[in-house]
Amino acid sequence: MEKIEKILFTYEEIQERIKELGKIISEDYKEKNPILACILKGAVYFAVDLTRNLSVPFILDFISILSYGPSKETYGIVRITKDLDINIYNKDVIIIEDIVDTGLSLAYLLRVLKAREPSSLKVCTLLDCPGRRIIDVPIDYKGFEIPNYYVVGYGLDYNENYRNLMYIAVLEK
Ligand code: PRP
Repeated sequence: MEKIEKILFTYEEIQERIKELGKIISEDYKEKNPILACILKGAVYFAVDLTRNLSVPFILDFISILSYGPSKETYGIVRITKDLDINIYNKDVIIIEDIVDTGLSLAYLLRVLKAREPSSLKVCTLLDCPGRRIIDVPIDYKGFEIPNYYVVGYGLDYNENYRNLMYIAVLEK
């Protein structure tokens, strides 16, 4: 069994940063009623805490995608396995991610959602790992930038384990 090597962000640090992000987003969307498109499953924990720090009305919705191929890095073929329930045409949409690594999932999502003609489309991710990027993607709001670590906790999994950790940790493999 893999072990936790070190804690990268404590629960308190995560909550503090989410509070700041919530404040910035609430300010940016003052006159608006954004749709938060949470990417299942990892981003659920982040999305829940982010909504608790928003002072504007919002709609929370979920979308699930699947990557194919022996490895996402080599193929990066993605498809939607559960679509948003809401029609985003003419709406302000914020994609909520837990982590952007290669950028392949986000690039696909941006392409698909843009085609539905929302009035705006932005990206909010808790973690950004630019060292693993394959495709350039725009990130409007980010919690933390991290080095090329394999991280788990606070929604992030390794073989579906560790999602429920209150903190974000580096996995020793
Ligand atoms: C993770 C994460 C992002 C994606 C980022 O999801 O939640 O959606 O990978 O990686 P990328 O930038 O290399 O595309 P994962 O496929 O592990 O699914 P999960 O959220 O259900 O755990």
